[in-house]
Amino acid sequence: MNKGKIKEQFLLNQDIHFLNHGSFGACPLPVFQDYQKWQAELEKEPIQFFTKTGISALKASKEVFAQEFNCSVEDFFFTSNPSTAFNTVVKNLDLKPGDEILSTNLEYGAMDRTWNYYCQKTGAKYVQQEIPLPFSNKEEILEAFWSGYNKNTKIVFLSHITSSTALILPVEEICERAKELGLITIIDGAHVPGHIPLDLGTLKADFYTGAMHKWYLAPKGLAFLHVKKEFQDMLDPLIVSWGYESDFPSGNRFLDYHEFNGTRDFSAHLCMPSLKRFREDFEWDAACTAAKQRILEIYPKFCTLLGSEALCPLSSDFLGQMCSIPINTTKPLELKEALYNRFHIEIPITNLKSKYFIRISLQGYNNQGDIDTLHQALRVLMEENQLINS
Ligand SMILES: Cc1ncc(COP(=O)(O)O)c(C=O)c1O
Repeated sequence: MNKGKIKEQFLLNQDIHFLNHGSFGACPLPVFQDYQKWQAELEKEPIQFFTKTGISALKASKEVFAQEFNCSVEDFFFTSNPSTAFNTVVKNLDLKPGDEILSTNLEYGAMDRTWNYYCQKTGAKYVQQEIPLPFSNKEEILEAFWSGYNKNTKIVFLSHITSSTALILPVEEICERAKELGLITIIDGAHVPGHIPLDLGTLKADFYTGAMHKWYLAPKGLAFLHVKKEFQDMLDPLIVSWGYESDFPSGNRFLDYHEFNGTRDFSAHLCMPSLKRFREDFEWDAACTAAKQRILEIYPKFCTLLGSEALCPLSSDFLGQMCSIPINTTKPLELKEALYNRFHIEIPITNLKSKYFIRISLQGYNNQGDIDTLHQALRVLMEENQLINS
């Protein structure tokens, strides 16, 4: 297949250097057309769609997912986003006063808020262990994390890839130890599918959520919750609907409970086959491998430019297709606006407490020009000494 200019396969504004795949992803045209085809089908034949065609397409889509991530179609359901999946889990936990949730200080703000909400309601405690930044090896992360463990710890929760700091955390090791200690493990893998390998069959996460509309390239609204068998019966649906006391039970109560949420457009959930096709046709795995290699090359260069220290060793153990460089600014919003308005670069300035980072995402559609333009723009802004302090 003639791949042409890969970026033209995406609906992205071609005039913008798009270095923020991490926030909301980007969907390629052939997949977006498939998504719109399902939406048109829904409007044309709503009764057929909601009772037959949509249902069988969902089954086919789930089968592709199950094959891709080594799990059974019986053990997960699609959601619109990780927040929905995560709220389903947390609402069902029987948290008691004094129970502790062991986590890190690197978690996504929406999940922090969810824990704060339920901890306030129940008297449980959300313990956010500080991970030293920079760290020099995995052991430092593990030591910092587990030093927060005590006899009240009931749950372990963390991101597989962190949001503002763009770091891969040693989730496999943490889940392994947590299960030895008899803890419930909940993993936020929003950035993981299509980004780093994910094997839901072997990972000892009781609950795992991920977004397909980020690195897997799905249209917005395709995420999932995978639940280990032993926890499926305790999980009530977030929205009670026809699947409860079902007139037509499927034989799997877990799926009946969670796959019926009232009338909604679930076209995004049907796109796994077209996603897989696109990724194969455009050799996307190879493009991702190249992007990861590129991140390892450019991270030290941008750190040098900004006079910053890398947050982690230069290794694929900790870095995928993103890297966050500490940046000395007191005007993060103005900086982001200037990069967009003056240099046509879309890139986030993320933060962790009062520290700021510029987070570079590289996807298969990015090229050297995007990286050079960012490098040059930062150099200019540093010389001006207004938005970036040297
Ligand atoms: C670690 C992490 N979790 C979750 C999300 C997104 O969750 P939601 O789409 O439900 O807001 C993000 C988005 O960037 C993220 O970085």
